[in-house]
Amino acid sequence: MGGAELAIDNVTIKRGELPIVRDVTIACPEGQVTVLLGANGAGKTTLMDGIAGVIPVERGTIALDGQQIQRLARDRRAKRGLAYVEQGRTVFAGLTVQENLAVASHGARNTARAYELFPELEARKQVTAQMLSGGEQQMLVLARAIVSQPRVLLIDEMSQGLAPVIVKRMIPFVQTAARSGIAVLLVEQFAALALSIGAHAYVLSVGSIVLEGPCKDLLARPDDVRHAYFAGGQDTNHGHDGASATAISGAATPQAAQNGGTL
Ligand SMILES: Nc1ncnc2c1ncn2[C@@H]1O[C@H](COP(=O)(O)OP(=O)(O)OP(=O)(O)O)[C@@H](O)[C@H]1O
Ligand SMILES: [Mg+2]
Repeated sequence: MGGAELAIDNVTIKRGELPIVRDVTIACPEGQVTVLLGANGAGKTTLMDGIAGVIPVERGTIALDGQQIQRLARDRRAKRGLAYVEQGRTVFAGLTVQENLAVASHGARNTARAYELFPELEARKQVTAQMLSGGEQQMLVLARAIVSQPRVLLIDEMSQGLAPVIVKRMIPFVQTAARSGIAVLLVEQFAALALSIGAHAYVLSVGSIVLEGPCKDLLARPDDVRHAYFAGGQDTNHGHDGASATAISGAATPQAAQNGGTL
């Protein structure tokens, strides 16, 4: 499966009249996981929506292997190999695992690849999706993105609502997908886990990148990462920010260290 480099350059995205993402530049090389961190309301989903073509980009460029795509409609971007696992996305509850994958792959042709990555799903392919555990459902969501044979995979908070032990099992699948050549951009609240599989990371705060660096460097600087979450922080965000602070300090626990994080 061939990948493609995703390059986001000086991108500004508005919601209504308000610029929510401002002059953001991010490079996502093929075969790597690039991590995007940030507190609730920082603009992570807005950026992902802009990259996927759900909402328009006000300024700046988005390029796949050097070809600008920011003016293309969402389905045209998907045809070029951009897959988007949206925050809170769920499976078709009434369909079996196999049917869920068939719908995504427009035929059963590519499902073998998904089952290679997620053997658990193959064992349950005749099971109705609503009977799956939360973790298995989330695997199915990822598997559905994989069967479209993407060159770039955008994943927005795959672990939302899942127990840390499940997240720990999911994260290596993202790494495996990247190793097959895909450029992965991963938004994740479990910062240490994400940094443990990523190559490069960016921290978004109030719409701007306030910290970036190799994941291994950021893992060694948890206080700087925590501080960056709240750089330019606004009082209006305090209620939400608590959740993100928990995610980071949670990553600093011995449990997180077992999960592969070293924060
Ligand atoms: N459809 C919308 N219309 C207007 N404002 C919006 C819309 N969606 C999001 N916003 C605002 O944009 C800002 C960024 O929201 P966004 O969802 O991109 O943040 P996020 O980093 O993904 O947060 P979370 O971690 O909670 O998912 C917030 O202030 C939010 O209220
Ligand atoms: Mg979001």
